[in-house]
Amino acid sequence: MIHIGIIGLGVIAQYYLAAFPQSMTAKLKAVCDLDDSKTEPYLDTDVCTYSDYLELLKDPSIDAVVINLPNDLHFKACQDALAYGKHVCCEKPLTLNVDEAKKLKQVAQRTELTLFTAFHRRYNQPLIELKQQVSSLDEVSHVDIYYLEKIEEHAGNDTWYLDPEKCGGGCIADNGPNAFDTLEWLIGPLAVKKVEIARDDKGMDIEAVVNLENHQGLTATTYLDWAYQKGEDKRVVFTMKDGRVLSSDMLRGSVAFKSSLFHEYARVIDDFVLHITERRGAGEEGLSAVKLVKHCYALEVEEQHDLERNVSSL
Ligand SMILES: NC(=O)c1ccc[n+]([C@@H]2O[C@H](COP(=O)([O-])OP(=O)(O)OC[C@H]3O[C@@H](n4cnc5c(N)ncnc54)[C@H](O)[C@@H]3O)[C@@H](O)[C@H]2O)c1
Repeated sequence: MIHIGIIGLGVIAQYYLAAFPQSMTAKLKAVCDLDDSKTEPYLDTDVCTYSDYLELLKDPSIDAVVINLPNDLHFKACQDALAYGKHVCCEKPLTLNVDEAKKLKQVAQRTELTLFTAFHRRYNQPLIELKQQVSSLDEVSHVDIYYLEKIEEHAGNDTWYLDPEKCGGGCIADNGPNAFDTLEWLIGPLAVKKVEIARDDKGMDIEAVVNLENHQGLTATTYLDWAYQKGEDKRVVFTMKDGRVLSSDMLRGSVAFKSSLFHEYARVIDDFVLHITERRGAGEEGLSAVKLVKHCYALEVEEQHDLERNVSSL
């Protein structure tokens, strides 16, 4: 049994909390949140409660932590947890910038601690089935992934999601990591080739189309929308060279809002423990997703400069 502490008890924490009773390998040992009302239900249980995560990290009986904090706090919390010798499962995005993600990777490698990013779509049953249907990537002509939602329906009481300083940006920073990681899990490492971004009146990237390519030249398109008015659409579509279209709805069978996350996070926790026991994982996937997000924003700036140069040369 790996003893785990959860830091941050907001929206996404409930899926981790639901996973522990069914896990044969992970035990919930402690919870931490600045908001006492969130730790209160654990006061009369064998789960320790904290409001300061550094205190939780000092507990020698805790082997590993799950970091569920707002995005801008991930780097510091991961750094602290690794410094206290804890294995880390961090929510996406691992960090807000590439240098920070590289630093964490180095620390995890040096300390031989697991640094794992909770890319929950890797454990989505419809996607696993889709992956199994594709026997060879040579048969695939193109892949599309759709990540469309109205962000306000996904955020908790706090509004940090809508503050680019805390979130890291808009829809690309928020849903980009999950979408890009899902694609990399399906078709291998990717590079961004082209990006089209729609920004709202506050300058937030609210919608984006990102074209990517893997090492073999297989192309993929990511559709991101933070202002989708028709509920939620999370899908992957493989277009095959022989004309077949293989599609997978990540929300298949999820009657209640976000209910697909229950089976995904149960597997996240068990795979995190497996990484720890097999001494694997030094933030590679988390770093890769951070790089792709940054590349999208950098390409937008480059394309804007090219446009301005072309206009001024007319
Ligand atoms: N909401 C989703 O659908 C979703 C999905 C996937 C991933 N995530 C990721 O999960 C992470 C958490 O998101 P969320 O939606 O649960 O956020 P949230 O705002 O609902 O929860 C964050 C929690 O952290 C607590 N907190 C803040 N600072 C703290 C500190 N210094 N010490 C202890 N507790 C502190 C807050 O009180 C709050 O309870 C984010 O990185 C997000 O990108 C969210």
